[in-house]
Amino acid sequence: MLVTGGTRGIGLAVSRSLLASGARVVLTGRDGLAAAEIATGLTSDHPSGDAIGVAADVRDPASLRAAVAVASDRFGRLDALVVNAGVGRMAPIQDLSEADWREVIDTNLSGAYHSVRAALDALVASGGTIVTIGSLAGAHAFAGGAAYNASKFGLVGFTEAIMHDLRDLGVRVATVMPGSVATGFSRRGGGGDAWKLQAEDVAEAVLFVLRNPGRALPSRIELRPARRRPSGGG
Ligand SMILES: NC(=O)c1ccc[n+]([C@@H]2O[C@H](COP(=O)([O-])OP(=O)(O)OC[C@H]3O[C@@H](n4cnc5c(N)ncnc54)[C@H](OP(=O)(O)O)[C@@H]3O)[C@@H](O)[C@H]2O)c1
Repeated sequence: MLVTGGTRGIGLAVSRSLLASGARVVLTGRDGLAAAEIATGLTSDHPSGDAIGVAADVRDPASLRAAVAVASDRFGRLDALVVNAGVGRMAPIQDLSEADWREVIDTNLSGAYHSVRAALDALVASGGTIVTIGSLAGAHAFAGGAAYNASKFGLVGFTEAIMHDLRDLGVRVATVMPGSVATGFSRRGGGGDAWKLQAEDVAEAVLFVLRNPGRALPSRIELRPARRRPSGGG
């Protein structure tokens, strides 16, 4: 298994859940030392699984190919790719810098392309599964979301298109689209964190896709907080 952006938040929760189920996981982040330290901690917490942390920036195809090679060399196969790494830069278009636009699109959208391309041969060989972490922001736009909404609408479309490309090759493709999750990612709109999803809830949805029998494909999961954001939450 390969999880991009596994060093914190949703990617860390997905990695932890995979290890708890006995999986062998390569998790990535931009800082290789941090990724390796986190992987070592996960493996000691869940000795039935195995984690390796490597540096791979999803904007850099060569680093992703190297991460896939680590998974193939150490584990012999790659059964799943979780396309999770992402950034948010929220600003109205009047204030949205070209640098922020590029960072969001290059990471959230082009990064998904690079991740899938790097892992594709290994996933076709194993009959594996791709799960992208989309967002409800990939179906519903909001003020200040020009870059983020564009990246996530794009990611959801990309995921659906490659699901059609790959299903007859034996590769299952799905997207999990969470609403607000209590990670360090965004404090958009205030209202505290109590009403939000937890990263573990998203991990549960990813594992649901991976555990489904090969003949079934829950290709798009919208995951909302059961309660709405409290009004007047600041
Ligand atoms: N939190 C939410 O409310 C929410 C809701 C819906 C969807 N999502 C999506 O869920 C995903 C994870 O979000 P999160 O809330 O867990 O965010 P987070 O806590 O900020 O974690 C982001 C992860 O992405 C990694 N990352 C960022 N840029 C990267 C790059 N260029 N290359 C490789 N890794 C990179 C970070 O690792 P390093 O910093 O170590 O590189 C980190 O592990 C994102 O795609 C986000 O859009 C989040």
